[in-house]
Amino acid sequence: MHERPFVGIVLFLWSTLVSAVVFASQAPEAWNAAQWPDTSGEHINAHGGGILFHDGVYHWFGEHKGSGRGGSLARVGVRVYTSTDLEHWTDAGVALAVTDDPLSEIRAGCRIERPKVIFNEKTDRFVMWFHLELAGHGYNAARAGVAVADSVHGPYEYIGSVRPNPGREPIGLSDAMRRRIRERAFSESRVEGDWVQSERVTARNFFVRQFYGGQMARDQTLFVDDDGTAYHIFASESNRTLHIAELDETYTGHTGRYVRVFEGASREAPVLFNRNGVYHLITSGCTGWAPNAAEHATAESIWGPWTVRGNPCEGNGAETTFGSQGTFAFPIRDAQGAPTDRWVFMADRWKPDALGRSAYLWLEIAFEGDRVILRE
Ligand code: GAL
Repeated sequence: MHERPFVGIVLFLWSTLVSAVVFASQAPEAWNAAQWPDTSGEHINAHGGGILFHDGVYHWFGEHKGSGRGGSLARVGVRVYTSTDLEHWTDAGVALAVTDDPLSEIRAGCRIERPKVIFNEKTDRFVMWFHLELAGHGYNAARAGVAVADSVHGPYEYIGSVRPNPGREPIGLSDAMRRRIRERAFSESRVEGDWVQSERVTARNFFVRQFYGGQMARDQTLFVDDDGTAYHIFASESNRTLHIAELDETYTGHTGRYVRVFEGASREAPVLFNRNGVYHLITSGCTGWAPNAAEHATAESIWGPWTVRGNPCEGNGAETTFGSQGTFAFPIRDAQGAPTDRWVFMADRWKPDALGRSAYLWLEIAFEGDRVILRE
């Protein structure tokens, strides 16, 4: 019996040493650098991205942006990089490529934004969702695209795009809203043009107006809960209200179960994660490429109620999220690949005139109880 504490101490020291080798407690300088070269010396081109940890390797998926003002149009697709130390990233190529097919929704010149990839244990496939805008249509399509692959790097096969949850009532829909949907169904078929001009444009109107056609979907992320249920979180209702929507067992479609959160508050760039049973949602305001203040909210159930906790940033630059906009959060892994309680918040420092040169800002999250604190 008496040698057990000793064995425990040795094991503890050993695992501490191993994790220290795997990831030093000091954040790498690259996380906050003007440019972050990959292992071949090129600035990493994976914007609005997210991380999938799979088979002991971190995979960073993101938008390949072009140069100049037109850089926001997709000419390449979604790029993926791999790393085991979160500092040195190797370009693993184009995971989802745009096509030359003039009939394809993902033809060159479309917009593919904020791609995220999750792994489906049941189907043994990788599923990518992204914000899709059709070539030549600005930001009007507001669709969610989905693609699948049998191996993590792809190539991902494009399945199609949707406006999620057509004709489906969100959880907690009020009777008044239900009435409005019914009334709209009548009036819209008669005077669509008049309605658009005569009614005040509110979040509620967007929701009601899109009810049967499917809800708008722009900035987005994915989240897989401990029970394997996946969720699609997106800015809907012309960016006025966020939707949190359950995905079906294949992760390639919506079940129709969803909730509208922060109604009319215009929040986007959602980052959602669960730490010790508490759901955290960090969002930005809607000011295009210009940075603004982040907001943090927590909930005990993903369906809410969500409690707004305020701006998680502290110190100089807190009002602009240190010149960035969030995109994802993930736990650092230990030497065995198990998630630790150290979390990274990933953000983009957009350069609207040279989007491909946009920088990144990765911050280790400090927690005070359930409060998220971000310091540069
Ligand atoms: C931002 C959004 C980006 C991109 C940009 C276009 O608000 O987060 O993903 O859509 O607007 O102006």
